[in-house]
Amino acid sequence: MPLSQIDHDPEIVARRIDENGFDVIENYVSTPALEQAQRFIAERADDCKSTGSHFDQEAAHKNTFLQDWHDDERFIDFCREVSSGYYEKTPPPPNWKPSLRVLSGEHGQSHSQLFHYDSYVLTAMIPILMPRCPDSAQLILIPNVRSMRPSYLINVFDKLIVDSPLAQRFFKQRNKNKRLKRVPLIPGNLYLFWGYRSIHASDSFDPAETRCTAIMHFYDYHKQSKLKRFLSAYR
Ligand SMILES: [Fe+2]
Repeated sequence: MPLSQIDHDPEIVARRIDENGFDVIENYVSTPALEQAQRFIAERADDCKSTGSHFDQEAAHKNTFLQDWHDDERFIDFCREVSSGYYEKTPPPPNWKPSLRVLSGEHGQSHSQLFHYDSYVLTAMIPILMPRCPDSAQLILIPNVRSMRPSYLINVFDKLIVDSPLAQRFFKQRNKNKRLKRVPLIPGNLYLFWGYRSIHASDSFDPAETRCTAIMHFYDYHKQSKLKRFLSAYR
C-alpha cells in the first residue's frame, strides 16, 4: 500500500490544528512509494532545468503515488470530517483541488516567502523532495490569524493587505528574525493546516536544490459567491 490508512480521530486532528496551527501524520507515504516518486520527480525536474521545458504534472500524477492519493475516497472523507465545522458555508463535495509544486533555481527563489492566505479552508501537504540544508524550505506559518469571512469581498480585502509590498516586507523581516512559526517538513509525512485562516509561505532555499510538495486544497469557502464568479469571468 503506497499510503497508510489514517486512523486518527478527525475531531482531534481539527482541534490540534486549532491549537498548534498544524497537525502532522507521520510516515503517511510508504518508503518504496516515496522513493519511487522522489526518483521520478527529481529526474524530470533535472530534465526541465537542462532543457528549459515545463514540468509535466500529469506524468508525475500517473507515475507516482499521487494518483492513489487523489483517488483515495477514505482520505477525502477524512478531510471532510476534519473540516466539518466549516460545512455550512461550503457547497458539498467534490470541492477540492490537487496540485504539485516543483521549485528550483530562480523560479524557486521567486516563489519562496510569498506570504498569503488560501481560498480553501484546509490545506493538506506531502513534502516529496526537500533541500538538504535542514533549516531551509520549511513551511512558515502565522496560524489561524483570521476568522472565516462572511463575504467574499472581505476575503479579497484581507488578501490585498497581505499581498501588499509593505506587509510582505514585514513578514520577511519577522521570518529573518525567526519570529514566525516554522514547520520542518519531512518527506512522506502529511501536514494539515487551515490555509484559509493562516498566513503562510515556503521558506527560501539553495537555488541549486529542488523542493517538491504535493498539495490538496479542500473546500473553496467562497465558491458560491456571485461576486467571485463575476470577477473570475472577467479575469
Ligand atoms: Fe497556500
